[in-house]
Amino acid sequence: MAFKTLLALASFVVTAVAAPASTKAACADGRTVNNAACCAWLPVLDDIQENLFSGSLCAEEAHEQTQFLTTLVTGFSIMANLEGKFGGGGADGSILAFSDIETSFQANFGLDFTTEAFIPFALAHNVSFGDFVQFAGAVGVSNCIGGPRLQFLAGRSNISQPSPDGLVPEPTDSADKIFARLADVGFSPIEVADLLAAHSVSAQYEVDTDVAGSPFDSTPDTFDTQFFVESLLTGTAFTGNGEGGEVLSPIPGEFRLQSDFAISRDNRTACEWQSFVTNHAAMVTKFETVMAKLATVGQDASSLIDCSDVIPVPPAAKVQVGTFPPGKSIADVDSACQATPFPTLSTQPGPVTSVLPV
Ligand SMILES: *[C@@H]1O[C@H](CO)[C@@H](O)[C@H](O)[C@H]1NC(C)=O
Ligand SMILES: *[C@@H]1O[C@H](CO)[C@@H](O)[C@H](O)[C@H]1NC(C)=O
Ligand SMILES: *[C@@H]1O[C@H](CO)[C@@H](O)[C@H](O)[C@H]1NC(C)=O
Repeated sequence: MAFKTLLALASFVVTAVAAPASTKAACADGRTVNNAACCAWLPVLDDIQENLFSGSLCAEEAHEQTQFLTTLVTGFSIMANLEGKFGGGGADGSILAFSDIETSFQANFGLDFTTEAFIPFALAHNVSFGDFVQFAGAVGVSNCIGGPRLQFLAGRSNISQPSPDGLVPEPTDSADKIFARLADVGFSPIEVADLLAAHSVSAQYEVDTDVAGSPFDSTPDTFDTQFFVESLLTGTAFTGNGEGGEVLSPIPGEFRLQSDFAISRDNRTACEWQSFVTNHAAMVTKFETVMAKLATVGQDASSLIDCSDVIPVPPAAKVQVGTFPPGKSIADVDSACQATPFPTLSTQPGPVTSVLPV
């Protein structure tokens, strides 16, 4: 009896899974998508890959402009979402619609370059600002080796309100303050840690403009676990002037934010943080999950169309497990996870080198 039910259930599942295949739509250029409404995003994809990201992968030879944008996009998409959430409008793209107002906020400094770059593309393709922010973020990070393939839902209204100032977390904030702000919009401390995987492919531009482009880990063009390893090493020197939310970092040229330092060592998040050191797959999956949540809080997800299949499949990661940078070992680890010992990692061979700005 139970076996029969299981079989019936199994065939039901098979049918349910098979159904979307028959609804696949052929778009004008011959490519196929799951929903005909998503065909509109193919020309946007081609245009931004060619003209915004310069067609170059995150990790390939240094196209300064591309790296700048790609590393900034993840942070931008998170900030733009938070902006909308705190303002009550959801992931509504208000940061583009009201870019003059919102990029003057302290926490959004450095985003004006991105908003300026984004606006013409959104206008040229006549897509809503809210959708464009999500789309460009997902495409940008899909260009990184080992990157996530983020969900992309289309159909956000183009109508938004400017967000109030003072609501987006800043690098000088305590873990308590950041967790409290994000709890307001439904994110747990663990989810905040998951979100910070974005710093694997990010750099700072405005905390200290004299060292603009200094990355948060030694591999800013790869969505790997090095950020989680290196952020747990004892800091020894400032890369910048040590102000505005900078704390000591372990590698010359690497920039460490006070907020990352606090969250990596907070007892609510330290074990989640450390768990990513040896688990790239979990880092990616959890980032995808939390970004999907971020992209739809404040939106009625059921009214949006799933166009995730338009997002490119990122190049596969080469390694799952982090390593100590040259000259570093377990002796340099400042572990705060009580429950689990820090994993055994190998040390990269060679001399200590500076991390270059992106
Ligand atoms: C642009 O999009 C809006 C809203 O979807 C629509 O009303 C308008 O007709 C579109 N304009 C063009 C030129 O396609
Ligand atoms: C979205 O709103 C902006 C003004 O904030 C407008 O310039 C743009 O044409 C609108 N786009 C669409 C698709 O309606
Ligand atoms: C975390 O640390 C705080 C003090 O910093 C302490 O009050 C709290 O009990 C600790 N929580 C856990 C789960 O260890």
